[in-house]
Amino acid sequence: MMITFENITKSFPDGTKAVDHFTAEINKGELFVLIGPSGCGKTTTLKMINRLIEPSSGTLYIEENELKDWNLQELRWNIGYVLQQIALFPTMTIEENIAVVPEMRKWSKNEISERVDELMNMVELDPSVYRRRMPKELSGGEQQRVGVARALAADPGILIMDEPFSALDPITREQLQKDIKDLQSRIQKTIVFVTHDMDEALAIGDRICLMESGRIIQTGTPHELTHHPVNDFVRDFIGDRTNEWDTPVKRMMSRESEHSANVADLPNIPLYPAPLYIFDSDHQFLGRSREGKIEDHSITVSPETVLKKAVEYFETSDVDALPVIENGKLIGVLSYKDIVRYMQQFHMESGKESV
Ligand SMILES: Nc1ncnc2c1ncn2[C@@H]1O[C@H](COP(=O)(O)OP(=O)(O)OP(=O)(O)O)[C@@H](O)[C@H]1O
Ligand SMILES: [Mg+2]
Repeated sequence: MMITFENITKSFPDGTKAVDHFTAEINKGELFVLIGPSGCGKTTTLKMINRLIEPSSGTLYIEENELKDWNLQELRWNIGYVLQQIALFPTMTIEENIAVVPEMRKWSKNEISERVDELMNMVELDPSVYRRRMPKELSGGEQQRVGVARALAADPGILIMDEPFSALDPITREQLQKDIKDLQSRIQKTIVFVTHDMDEALAIGDRICLMESGRIIQTGTPHELTHHPVNDFVRDFIGDRTNEWDTPVKRMMSRESEHSANVADLPNIPLYPAPLYIFDSDHQFLGRSREGKIEDHSITVSPETVLKKAVEYFETSDVDALPVIENGKLIGVLSYKDIVRYMQQFHMESGKESV
């Protein structure tokens, strides 16, 4: 669902202007990150989306309809909310925690049970193990996954997340960032994600909106913010990210490649000495072909893998191209040629910018 902020201002009764003329359009299926220093108005902006806070002026739309014209209950059901402090109900099992909104919506027992299974699998918690556990019997990362499952339970069109991973250790956090990104590409939710961690924003955001004192300083893709900051505030907040080795491979891989082939075409391809990465009609990755047979291949990268990591894979394996896999699908191939081409382009671009 699309969210539109039109000139939104929020002043609290004590005079604090938390959000100041905020205008933005968040597209359907987009992962939109709100970032900025503490107190800049991120949480206030987020809470206006599900009307936990009402704007003082301006208009907010979800789809074509003004927010105030939505039935409040309907609106809340359509917006999954994940908070920083995982607020699972302590006396309810994991299953019951996830089922809260479907219960309120009076889904049938069967429907609920199936949905709980589906969601637990989605966030990679084995239902046969975790269904009947209590929240305190789960690790912080597992509880956070339950929080995400619960927010998704009634299949909302929008997910709003307020620093959902900030209490977690870096490894769990990175895993959950990957999960949420995968989830988004699979289920096409509009996600508004608050963080104050630039690494996190750059890793997951389709677009990033940097705020200061209630105002938008810059909105743009990770590339736009890192390469074309509008002022020193943005530059300082981001730090130096213009290192080519930190670029995700999705920006240089080839979608069509001489190193990959559809399994259906395999019989027509000569027994080429270099391995080919094989996918099926659904683009699922099957492995690599060697002398006409398909063998398992575990050295793969994700679209978000950064170049320096990918290069390590090249160094430790005998391949000269790596398959780029997302949700089990082969979405591209990264070869030396791609890297060289990207490096040339990168240095040409940064040359231009420094003139
Ligand atoms: N109910 C309130 N009454 C008065 N001022 C408030 C209220 N809620 C928030 N504020 C103020 O509004 C500003 C924005 O707060 P908000 O919670 O949106 O910031 P934030 O960007 O989410 O910060 P953090 O990163 O610390 O969570 C702050 O100055 C805060 O003190
Ligand atoms: Mg906040």
